[in-house]
Amino acid sequence: MTMSPHCPFHVIIWGVFLCILTKESQPVSWEEWWTYDGISGPGFWGLINPEWSLCHKGRRQSPVNLEPERLLFDRNLQLLHIDKHGIRGSLSNTGHGVVFSVDNGTQHPVNISGGPLSYRYQFCEIHLHYGLNDQRGSEHTVDNYAFPAEIQIFGFNSELYNNYSDALHRPQGTVAISLLLQVGDLSNPELRKFTDKLNDVKYRGEMTEIPRFVVRELLPDTKYYMTYEGSITMPACHETTTWIILNKPIYITKQQLIALRNLMQGDRKRSIAPLGNNYRPPQLLHHRPVRTNIDINTQGTKNCPTMHRDISYKAHTWE
Ligand SMILES: *[C@@H]1O[C@H](CO)[C@@H](O)[C@H](O)[C@H]1NC(C)=O
Ligand SMILES: *[C@@H]1O[C@H](CO)[C@@H](O)[C@H](O)[C@H]1NC(C)=O
Ligand SMILES: *[C@@H]1O[C@H](CO)[C@@H](O)[C@H](O)[C@H]1NC(C)=O
Repeated sequence: MTMSPHCPFHVIIWGVFLCILTKESQPVSWEEWWTYDGISGPGFWGLINPEWSLCHKGRRQSPVNLEPERLLFDRNLQLLHIDKHGIRGSLSNTGHGVVFSVDNGTQHPVNISGGPLSYRYQFCEIHLHYGLNDQRGSEHTVDNYAFPAEIQIFGFNSELYNNYSDALHRPQGTVAISLLLQVGDLSNPELRKFTDKLNDVKYRGEMTEIPRFVVRELLPDTKYYMTYEGSITMPACHETTTWIILNKPIYITKQQLIALRNLMQGDRKRSIAPLGNNYRPPQLLHHRPVRTNIDINTQGTKNCPTMHRDISYKAHTWE
């Protein structure tokens, strides 16, 4: 959506509003309308709908720029655990992105635990964010470097809550494992299960079955990650998400990126624009720590901040 310089602001809003009322096959209210650019883009989410005020006022928002010199080594962080078995689900074009959702009532949920987590989480969705060119696309950036795409694996806290939609706005409700994507000659094989089906989800609202998907197979071969407490990166921006960003990328080919960029934001009747650049820009950290299980000091680099360096408590012994 671009603004005409000759058109006053309220006229544009009403123009958009009328389009929504008249042209959409399923009318949505103005309050539910958000995009990744223009007057309903990320800078305005918190103003469009009072229920999304955290998008504007929140101080524990995501994504963030990860600054290597600010990482804190935490020796208490555990290995991350994700179940190995496959699950059935569906891939859909939501108009905001490409989403894989596990089938409701699945008998054998994929559990996520360990890492920085105090609870067991149940896998429910995977979100794909990507750029319309290779220079941008990821939501998280590393040292201000944006990757061409990011995959986010979401789970909800299944020890405290019944389902994802409930957990979204509850304390310690959700986990998101973030994979940063780099262009390569060979794709991650599990990712290909999504990109092979993109013709079936060209337009918003389209959905296709994926009979067996193994979430674990998406992950790069690393036990190292960075973690911080943040939010969902779409409205309503609830600050309930523990983020885990793996420290190695996975690979996507140029052809797969081109296939993603052929998807459309709208439905078949009114395709609007290509789907892509569906990332929220990095938000301020506001003094939140970003912890890592990479022990930078034992890996040859000196003078890196750690959480244990200055700790000098000694247990008093009574012997
Ligand atoms: C699963 O349940 C949710 C909430 O009831 C619903 O919105 C969604 O469409 C269902 N998904 C499938 C694949 O049936
Ligand atoms: C995953 O967690 C559920 C409880 O939410 C449990 O019943 C199930 O056995 C766990 N699955 C595995 C593979 O450990
Ligand atoms: C999710 O859980 C809440 C609280 O238990 C419940 O009220 C709601 O109906 C559930 N939603 C779905 C889609 O199952």
